[in-house]
Amino acid sequence: MDEATEAALVAAAVAAREQSYAPYSGFSVGAAVLDGEGRIHAGCNVENAAYPQGQCAEATAIGAMVTAGGRLIKAVAVAGPDTGPEDPFCTPCGGCRQRLREFASGALTVIICQPRGIVARHTLASLLPESFGPDHLD
Ligand code: THU
Repeated sequence: MDEATEAALVAAAVAAREQSYAPYSGFSVGAAVLDGEGRIHAGCNVENAAYPQGQCAEATAIGAMVTAGGRLIKAVAVAGPDTGPEDPFCTPCGGCRQRLREFASGALTVIICQPRGIVARHTLASLLPESFGPDHLD
């Protein structure tokens, strides 16, 4: 991924975070995926008064990609709040790691960002080792 594409992916995740509907947690998240055609699809978390029905930002972004016909994730950016030096970054939850795995290999680049910029980079394999994916069902 070139620098301009990475910057666009991060900007899309940060912009999607602005649309977050998180009245219960107050924790806004945005995500953006780069698909196999080079298109970017973004989404935010969407909470619900029936708490378990809330949806993570990654799930919203993946849904947008699939709806647009995308079936491959080449990179993902996840945008959480700006944090202080002692605070943890917003990394994808366990369920979203598995959702990403459906459309990506362990080599997937997972960019962790905040409104102030990129704060960490991971591979999906490091976040979800020994994962189970569609290839297991071939
Ligand atoms: N959240 C995400 O959107 N993505 C993640 O990977 C971590 C958590 C959301 C879910 C919920 O709306 C809020 O953050 C607090 O958990």
